[in-house]
Amino acid sequence: MRVIVIGGTGHVGTYLAPRLVEAGHQVVVLSREQRQPYQPHGAWNAVERVGIDRLAEEGAGTFGARVAALKPDAVIDMICFTPQSARHLVEALRGRVQHFLHCGTIWVHGHSVEVPTTESQPRRPFGEYGVQKAAIEAYLLDQARRHGFPATILHPGHIVGQGWAPLNPGGHFNPEVFARLARGEELALPNLGLETVHHVHADDVAQAFMQAIANWNQAVGESFHVVSPAALTLRGYAEAVAGWFGQPARLRFLPWEEWRTAVAAGDAEMTWDHIAHSPNCSIAKARRLLAYNPRYSSLQAVHESVDWLIEHGVVQV
Ligand SMILES: NC(=O)c1ccc[n+]([C@@H]2O[C@H](COP(=O)([O-])OP(=O)(O)OC[C@H]3O[C@@H](n4cnc5c(N)ncnc54)[C@H](OP(=O)(O)O)[C@@H]3O)[C@@H](O)[C@H]2O)c1
Repeated sequence: MRVIVIGGTGHVGTYLAPRLVEAGHQVVVLSREQRQPYQPHGAWNAVERVGIDRLAEEGAGTFGARVAALKPDAVIDMICFTPQSARHLVEALRGRVQHFLHCGTIWVHGHSVEVPTTESQPRRPFGEYGVQKAAIEAYLLDQARRHGFPATILHPGHIVGQGWAPLNPGGHFNPEVFARLARGEELALPNLGLETVHHVHADDVAQAFMQAIANWNQAVGESFHVVSPAALTLRGYAEAVAGWFGQPARLRFLPWEEWRTAVAAGDAEMTWDHIAHSPNCSIAKARRLLAYNPRYSSLQAVHESVDWLIEHGVVQV
């Protein structure tokens, strides 16, 4: 197929575009061409690159027509954040694509009730990002089920890979947390450290997109969580990271109100967003319908990423 990936040079696109090429698809990647994929891969020589600023084109009302003019069989939309944006594209592609795949987020769920959370649980998102993504999901599922638009929605967890800092055991992105654990220094965690995070390796997200394309009849009109096989508690995550460096985890636990004043305001804000959600999502549906089979556990994905941070001097151990 001729597959257009909108925003295809980022975390997921780095792995997805080469997978699509290797599967024999004709691949077109749209981006502003401000950045390169995180990892080099020879398959990029076979990828057609088109420089487009989506927001500028949407403002001019021309984005959908530009994508349609590329004559796609399938479109993978990695960077859609509002229902208006989704609607604009769907209107332009209606009747013109075999498959439309949207990258969502597990933030379409608010806090969990029963865990692992399944896709069928009622959506109670909070925060602008999750609320907008849940509205996009509802719109696309309605378009698929009522109007036959061939949409699939994949909801990744915290995306991990070589080249950027993963969500750390403190629930934020400051790589110093890994350095402290590696050096055996004390680390304070909020509450009892039992709130959860749910990572996924970027290549496993790419795998899920491939599996959705390959299992069209199971994927259309459905949404799927795309995470590792199991979420982590902050405490267990911290202990595992310290263990990689032969250190005991020297952890201290502080009530949230105390903890948040002990770290940078930006880090505290990030942690609040993660622990207020405390995701723990099921991949049973993706396993059953798409044969999604993640290669990485959360800890394996993070370990690979932290090794990269150490090799590149970001984390000093
Ligand atoms: N990161 C996470 O942990 C996480 C977790 C759950 C869900 N998600 C979802 O994952 C998706 C993002 O995927 P990602 O993390 O692989 O992306 P990413 O790393 O943020 O990369 C974004 C891609 O889009 C391009 N881009 C950005 N703005 C653009 C614009 N205005 N016009 C055209 N291209 C543009 C970028 O290239 P240029 O800069 O060169 O244009 C790049 O190719 C989002 O839908 C997000 O909600 C992410």
